[in-house]
Amino acid sequence: MIRSKKCEHPRNMIEHNHEAYLKQKKAVVEEFEEQFGLAPFWLVAAPSRVNLIGEHIDYCDGFVLPLAINRYIMIAAAPNGTSQANLISTLFPDEPAMVMLDENPEAGAPHWANYIRGVLDGFRKKGFWPLPGFDALIHSTIPLGAGLSSSAAIEVAAATMVEGLLGIDINPKNKALLCQRAEHKFAGVPCGIMDQFASVFGKKDHLILIDCRSEEAQAIPFADDSVEVIIADTKVQHELSDGSYSNRRKQTEIALSILGKKSWREVSMAELEAQQDHMSDVVYRRARHVVTEIDRTQKAAMALARGKTHEVGELMAASHKSLRDDFEVSCKELDIMVEAAWAIGQSGGVLGSRMTGGGFGGSTVTIALADQAEAVMDEMRRRYQEETGIEPYIFATRAVGGVRLEEL
Ligand code: GLA
Repeated sequence: MIRSKKCEHPRNMIEHNHEAYLKQKKAVVEEFEEQFGLAPFWLVAAPSRVNLIGEHIDYCDGFVLPLAINRYIMIAAAPNGTSQANLISTLFPDEPAMVMLDENPEAGAPHWANYIRGVLDGFRKKGFWPLPGFDALIHSTIPLGAGLSSSAAIEVAAATMVEGLLGIDINPKNKALLCQRAEHKFAGVPCGIMDQFASVFGKKDHLILIDCRSEEAQAIPFADDSVEVIIADTKVQHELSDGSYSNRRKQTEIALSILGKKSWREVSMAELEAQQDHMSDVVYRRARHVVTEIDRTQKAAMALARGKTHEVGELMAASHKSLRDDFEVSCKELDIMVEAAWAIGQSGGVLGSRMTGGGFGGSTVTIALADQAEAVMDEMRRRYQEETGIEPYIFATRAVGGVRLEEL
């Protein structure tokens, strides 16, 4: 499916300044005032993320290496003295939602509000119930369906807004896990912990190395001005809730049980090969992706921690090929976009490129030399458009801090 042009963005602009953030904040506050007739009390901004490497292994006790990026879900909110939440999203202005805060939240229409209902239900389960009523205006600069986890950002923004409403701070890790539960129970996607952790633990000029077994996040400096992170949205998208994501997750569970291990961290390539005859070819290839991707991610994290950015290119290429051939979550358009970057190569300023996120459409991530980044983006756009007839959305980004709450 080719997505409609819901969010329009300027072409190929490298914009790292704070202006876009302030502009969005102003727009959200003004729109809240317009809709609800009073000024908001709180403003929450939760970033989206892009994953450099470590794909489809966050639900396999693996390591992942995302960065929070300067695209946000913002929520402006204020108490309303009732027992209901009135929710308006600027992306779906004709579908306002109302949630009774003294009844158990249930998934329903409009669909976009399920992420928030799921978060409210998480607070109910923790004993914070009933909640005081509030009005909220939700606004996004995250391209929809681009594999940049706008759903995790809306969950993390909503949870942080409820913290403001209650005047409490819950432990950041528990907040991310509460948001993951919302995605499982109210959006039907059995995701891992990467997206919610990245939005909570993001740090300016840092990558976040997440150990998905211990559920610990470690910040790795990533402030080299000579490189840019480029995100290329293919503008094609397949729903993760259609079963392909949960199907991959199940196949990895089958493989682990055949291997007789408790965790993928205990599985070596030699052990996997020894069991190859006991599993189907598909299950074996899924397992091979997991084992090799865990190894690649650790190597990439070590290289980046030593400031050796140019060493990650081969690891990123191997990751893409493994996702394409063994895990089978890429698609024609992602392959074309990645191959466009590979064809530009090191001499043209590309250090590495791969698909990123859940796959089946969405975006690629490319590391490029800063002084050649504009030319790289233009060339990727040209090649992709020539081969697919689709105009992609390509932009450069920087690592930003995690979710924040402001009292206005
Ligand atoms: C989606 C999920 C994440 C992760 C990625 C693939 O973004 O939400 O938990 O599994 O896919 O790495």
